[in-house]
Amino acid sequence: MEGIIKIVCLLGLIIGACLPMGLASTPPAPASNKEVFISHLLAQMTLQEKIGQLRMNFPDLNTPEPKILQSIAAGKTGAIIGVGSRPTSRILQDVAVKQSRLKIPLFFGYDVIHGQRTIFPISLGMASSWDLQAIALSGRTAAQEASADGVDMTFAPMVDINRDPRWGRVSEGFGEDPYLASRISEVMVKAFQGTSPSARDSIMACVKHFALYGAAEGGRDYNSVDMSPVRMYQDYLPPYRAAVEAGAGAVMVAFNSINGLPATANAWLLQSVLRNEWGFKGLILSDDRGVVDLINHGVARNAREAARLAITAGTEMSMNDSPYGQNLAALLASGDVPLQDIDDAVRNVLRVKYDMGLFDNPYLRIGSASDDPVDVNAESRLHREQARYVARKSLVLLKNQNGTLPLKKQGTVALIGPLANSAEDILGGWSADGQASQAVTVYEGLTRALHNKATLIYAQGTPVTTDAEITAYLGPTPGKIDTRSAPVMLAEALSVARRANVVVVVVGEAKGMTGEAASRSSLDLPDNQRELITALKSIGKPLVLVLMNGRPLSIGHEQDQVDAVLETWFSGTEGGNAIADVLFGDYNPSGKLPITFPRSVGQIPTYYNHLNTGRPFIAGKPPYFTSQYLDAINSPLYPFGYGLSYTDFSLSDITLSANSLKGSATLDASITVKNIGQRDGETVVQLYIRDVRASISRPVKELKNFQKIMLRAGEEKTIHFTISRNDLKFYNAQLKYDSEPGLFNVQIGLDSQEVKQQSFELL
Ligand code: NOJ
Repeated sequence: MEGIIKIVCLLGLIIGACLPMGLASTPPAPASNKEVFISHLLAQMTLQEKIGQLRMNFPDLNTPEPKILQSIAAGKTGAIIGVGSRPTSRILQDVAVKQSRLKIPLFFGYDVIHGQRTIFPISLGMASSWDLQAIALSGRTAAQEASADGVDMTFAPMVDINRDPRWGRVSEGFGEDPYLASRISEVMVKAFQGTSPSARDSIMACVKHFALYGAAEGGRDYNSVDMSPVRMYQDYLPPYRAAVEAGAGAVMVAFNSINGLPATANAWLLQSVLRNEWGFKGLILSDDRGVVDLINHGVARNAREAARLAITAGTEMSMNDSPYGQNLAALLASGDVPLQDIDDAVRNVLRVKYDMGLFDNPYLRIGSASDDPVDVNAESRLHREQARYVARKSLVLLKNQNGTLPLKKQGTVALIGPLANSAEDILGGWSADGQASQAVTVYEGLTRALHNKATLIYAQGTPVTTDAEITAYLGPTPGKIDTRSAPVMLAEALSVARRANVVVVVVGEAKGMTGEAASRSSLDLPDNQRELITALKSIGKPLVLVLMNGRPLSIGHEQDQVDAVLETWFSGTEGGNAIADVLFGDYNPSGKLPITFPRSVGQIPTYYNHLNTGRPFIAGKPPYFTSQYLDAINSPLYPFGYGLSYTDFSLSDITLSANSLKGSATLDASITVKNIGQRDGETVVQLYIRDVRASISRPVKELKNFQKIMLRAGEEKTIHFTISRNDLKFYNAQLKYDSEPGLFNVQIGLDSQEVKQQSFELL
């Protein structure tokens, strides 16, 4: 029967119309079997209506005669991007369900990456917490706020592994490690989707960017990716797979090419890997204008060919792009695109709408006008407590010489720096509907913390950057341009610093210096900020460096100049309070780096899970003919997993329950961690494994598990990790995922470098 419908449609196409021929009869209720419902709906659709479902468009509601309204009414738009406001969504949904022929509801996709109204730390900051429960809290809160704003789908989590911090989008992901990123990926999908994506307070997760976008050559955004299959499978693909296995409803295709073939036109990636190997059943969505980009990639001559390549490869819905709308009908008529491809894609769009609960109630998340919040930015809509809780955990203490931190709430504290009082910047990129006016800056956080106890004095000192090109690229920053000359600003900062007992300097990057299309060829602080630090150092007061940035920075020189360094990333709406909590010891820092900090850009890549090489450099041994630089040392500035606390922890040796592992048995690896300092504190116990010899060279260590634990001062705990054969599996040269017998090293530590070690044999 379905075949007959298609033939009829095809004939209809040729004569210019493809209305279903009286097959509609009484539609099944949405609550009935999903597949029956979808088949019935599909059978009623014209070709134009089908193609319309494959298009996600930005609305042009600020224009005099918005084309989007006609497009929706004509069934030519299937989903909307970029609207996070219920009244606006309602206007659009009204047209879809009241004026379009089949009344198919739209869905609304939005970039809810690290919060909707309450902004949590950027993803790299959340990953620094190594606290899955806190990360889940941020995702659930974001889902509640976004769904209450009419959002049905978020373009998150972004799980691109990154080993090159020149890439600006490193800020949006969870760092360099496949295990950590996979755990977070799973947690975020579940947090966004809640009990079901059809729940009113859930949003569907669209994991991105599939695939390997974080490996853009040279860290330059949108650049090509060339990678061995082993590396892909072992290191880069696991976090996407984790999202799929956690039930993500959609996948967004990456902009980049992979070994020459753009992801958007890559049937191997989208069909063989995603659909066939992983069994993904949801929707595959292009990235913004990813289809038309196939022309620039040099694989399509024109938009028509781009549409053909993308749809036949499996890119089902196009985002903000015209090739599908303009060419799919002709491509079908000419036989270049089979109807099956279009129908399969439409089915998946309808399925996600069904799964979001929109056929039962198109206004599920939009609600009725009478329920719209009177003030969308009302304070009562925020979740400040949750934001502060998560932000504290995302801060990483990198240096603390002579116990400079925590500071005492007494005397005079000088707060200096271009990011010390910037509400815009502390929110970070992709801050959805977060309001700068509701964000707590470091200045405000310190002011509240010191109220009636100590004096806070402030000077900006210098702008974020004096580079004219970067400043122009960042665009206007209303009310923030300080028109005083550099010497005047610096003199003011020095005079403020001289009057204080301690100086806190907040430096780093403007939020626009990281994120999409914000790659950098240097990881240094901008020169003017470096000069500010050097000048402040000359005053001779204890100097605390607070970093606000979206990528690892090469701050070796500054680290040597200052007494303490606190990495705060972009910490969100409650960032200033969380930073004050840590600076004054109301919270003992517990964050650990999810990505290595290089000493210089020339050391990249510096990821911890590298191969040993045939000629490893060994510290303390002659360097000749070993893998090293003549002008720099190999070790990073701060290793993966690193982060200090205000207390100290000691580690016992590792105890293994056996010295070999056989069949389906497991091993217990335990270690006793003791808090030997004066304060209660949390730390992250990290388990690494090295497969010493195998059929292919294996990394010097790989994270396999971790536990974040709290220990009271003086308390000790024995931590147990179970190691099974599964933890020892890897993709061999034939991409077979299995373990190989032989020697394994187990390493446990509080970072990836300082570890205890034991060995066992896999029999
Ligand atoms: C392009 C970005 O690459 C992607 O991450 C984002 O979700 C879309 N634009 C939509 O804003």
